[in-house]
Amino acid sequence: MLRRQAREWEKSGGMSTAPGEKKRRNPVRVIAVTSGKGGVGKTNIAANLAYLLAMRGKRVLLLDADAGLANIDVILGITPQYNLCHVLRGEKALSEVVVRGPGGIMIVPAASGVREMAELSRGHKLTLLEELDQFDEDVDIMIIDTAAGINGNVMYFNMAAHDIIVVLSPDPTSLTDAYALIKVLNRDYNIRDFMIMANLVRSSGEAASVFNRLAAAVERFLNLTVKYVGYVSYDKLVAEAVRQQSLFTEIFPSARASRLLAIMAETLCGDHGPREDQSGMLKFFGSAVITGND
Ligand SMILES: Nc1ncnc2c1ncn2[C@@H]1O[C@H](COP(=O)(O)OP(=O)(O)OP(=O)(O)O)[C@@H](O)[C@H]1O
Ligand SMILES: [Mg+2]
Repeated sequence: MLRRQAREWEKSGGMSTAPGEKKRRNPVRVIAVTSGKGGVGKTNIAANLAYLLAMRGKRVLLLDADAGLANIDVILGITPQYNLCHVLRGEKALSEVVVRGPGGIMIVPAASGVREMAELSRGHKLTLLEELDQFDEDVDIMIIDTAAGINGNVMYFNMAAHDIIVVLSPDPTSLTDAYALIKVLNRDYNIRDFMIMANLVRSSGEAASVFNRLAAAVERFLNLTVKYVGYVSYDKLVAEAVRQQSLFTEIFPSARASRLLAIMAETLCGDHGPREDQSGMLKFFGSAVITGND
């Protein structure tokens, strides 16, 4: 799709298939894995979830959207030649950047420490939308590993997803930061649906208590109901897999963390397909979400 056509399409509201755009055979469900506080396990959860979903027959595209500090490539021990930065600069097509990972997952690596990627411009966002629309491989699920916090990129990638999984840890600051993230996404972007998971907990009881504290605050002050989708316990085999630059679900399938994440993958598979957009904003794949400055 040409950029000019994309702009016209954007102006028209992006509701119909743009001129020259390929009609996708199946709807793609886009799931963002996000958090308010850093270091709660997003990258590990996103990559392992992608693998588990691939093992269940889904065609999964995993996007490393942490443009500041990329690390899906690090935890997978791959050294990609190209990354998202090349796509956004218009130097490479998405298909030239995608690398295959465990279970056949398709990975879009991010650039590490590239300043221009710290805040994507409107042009970058448009290019990414075009590239996703043009991407030839069939995809059932796209998982986005976002950066932590509430900067513009984090907002953008969450806004572009059908489902948002907010990862919590038992650390009290992870709760306050998750609350702040949900508040901004709701207030400024009208997002009302959030899935919550707890990571790094010692027990299901601790997971429930972490979730309940967040849910109570969100319900009371934002009048929103959040949905619990599961938990992963603290497991030293996760760190061991990271050391071995492999996915814990692949090399330690019977580890407690792997079994718990598999339950969450089942929950997500049984949940629903791409959700109807309630915010009035359109999403990745057949939709336009453009914000920011040129
Ligand atoms: N369930 C777990 N059990 C043990 N260690 C874990 C678990 N989940 C994550 N970790 C460890 O926590 C650290 C942070 O994980 P990860 O990089 O996935 O977090 P992140 O939220 O993506 O961080 P950032 O915000 O910097 O992107 C890693 O060293 C990882 O090995
Ligand atoms: Mg990360």
